Amino acid sequence: MKIITINQKYLSFCQNIKNIFEETQNSIHKARNEIKIVEQEPRNFVIKSFKIPHIINKIAYTFFRSSKAEKSYINSLKIMNFVPKPIAYIETKKNALLHESYFISEHFAYDFTIREPLTHKEFKHKNEIYQAFAQFTNELHNQGIKHLDYSPGNILIKKEDQIYIFKIIDINRMQFKTLNKQERLENFSKLWATDEDLSIIIKEYAKINHIDEKEALLIALKASQKHKDKKNFKKRLKGKKVVD
Ligand SMILES: Nc1ncnc2c1ncn2[C@@H]1O[C@H](COP(=O)(O)OP(=O)(O)O)[C@@H](O)[C@H]1O
Ligand SMILES: [Mg+2]
Repeated sequence: MKIITINQKYLSFCQNIKNIFEETQNSIHKARNEIKIVEQEPRNFVIKSFKIPHIINKIAYTFFRSSKAEKSYINSLKIMNFVPKPIAYIETKKNALLHESYFISEHFAYDFTIREPLTHKEFKHKNEIYQAFAQFTNELHNQGIKHLDYSPGNILIKKEDQIYIFKIIDINRMQFKTLNKQERLENFSKLWATDEDLSIIIKEYAKINHIDEKEALLIALKASQKHKDKKNFKKRLKGKKVVD
């Protein structure tokens, strides 16, 4: 078992991770990976248990690439201000190949994700939220952070004393680089926002970046539509319902 933690006081917790995860009932999300909240004093932890990879990826993760758990942890350490605090990552092996892997972070008690204002027409304070979101994203971009899965469920928001605090999660796929204008604006394309909502966000982003508004809208809306078309094409192939 490989355990890497920011503080050795979490070592016994990490050593017990398999039992703790199995016994915890509080599953908040189960798709490819499963996520559970564990109660801890003074702050709760979130454990993300990654899907056990198939054989090819087991080999790849064991010999050639970092696991998603490791990447989540390493990336979090690089961008501490933007993510829930990382606690540890743990990997186990079976037949000398990567088997289970976990990433533990502090639970961020968010009020909503960006999905709610994007999908509820009547969501309160939409404009302020979008402006704050544009500013937050600009801060990420200025720091050379490109989240490769910048989608609604990965953007958590908490309102505190009239200000919005943002944290990004699901950070195993990111790039650290200087982003050009095109890349900055295309980074909004996975939000699945309506043109109307995306325009509010992009106008604010263009304003703070001194980019021409019309050009910014053109690039961002085009990228967003391209993403929707691509996803919808895949959905149609699978016979699923299509929106937008
Ligand atoms: N540190 C955290 N604090 C609070 N909620 C979290 C945290 N990490 C994950 N979550 C919750 O779990 C959901 C899925 O997490 P995520 O890492 O995006 O998993 P997936 O890879 O399945 O998308 C999030 O949308 C959020 O509701
Ligand atoms: Mg996610």
